[in-house]
Amino acid sequence: MENVYTSNKKIHSLVSSFIVKKRNAWKFAALTAYDYPMGRLLDGLGLDFLLVGDSLGMVVLGHPDTTEVTLDDMVHHTRAVARGVNDTPLIADLPARSTETEAIGVRSARKLMEAGANGVKAEGGRELLSVIKAILGEGIPVLGHIGMLPQRVREEGGYRIKGKTPQQAGELMEDALTLDEAGVFAMVLELVSPPVADSISQKTRVPTIGIGSGSGCDGQILVTYDLLGMFPWFKPRFVQPKVDLASQIQSAVAEFVKECREA
Ligand code: KIV
Repeated sequence: MENVYTSNKKIHSLVSSFIVKKRNAWKFAALTAYDYPMGRLLDGLGLDFLLVGDSLGMVVLGHPDTTEVTLDDMVHHTRAVARGVNDTPLIADLPARSTETEAIGVRSARKLMEAGANGVKAEGGRELLSVIKAILGEGIPVLGHIGMLPQRVREEGGYRIKGKTPQQAGELMEDALTLDEAGVFAMVLELVSPPVADSISQKTRVPTIGIGSGSGCDGQILVTYDLLGMFPWFKPRFVQPKVDLASQIQSAVAEFVKECREA
């Protein structure tokens, strides 16, 4: 049945274009955005999508991890980013506790779409299948996310590489094939052992977008603040910042303070 989402041509083209691009060996690039200026700066630069990631809980809200981020936080930031983005598909994260049941998942995804997203990301594999299917059933594109799941970092006791044992590798492959079959338009592989990420990427129809999972993925995503050196308090090993904006901001401000003092 046609509804506000299925009638959106941008959404339809997102799903099919990602599969076609993967078939043509396209290498995908994606970044996060949490506010209007970053959305506007990153739009039109050739990124395959922008993600309003729940990493905003750490990066811009100052929480120790993403587990406290609420749906209202995500709606607020998605609205802001959407005001600056015209050309790039905008995906918003479903935060912790927003996918507990099919009904909650659908309601949460709808709120993010109403805030300006063109699709949503859901953390989890086979255990989340019915929720993902319910969201897809509403015509809302879903970006999968398997491997290390930051929303479960407290249960898991840290950010550890997944897929190191044959059992874990097999489970990740099962999750990936299940999400692929369900109809996600791509899936994030976070901190997945590179050989496992590589073999998942060879088996899935939709692109794999890696973060800390090696170069065998179909594309890469990073937290923009890590790429720009704007979050000096935590530097993931797999990121090579392109610029050190934290130092540049501090020097600019020091110069301003000096000018004020000397005036
Ligand atoms: O929350 C986030 O920003 C993410 C990406 C880094 C994949 O999940």
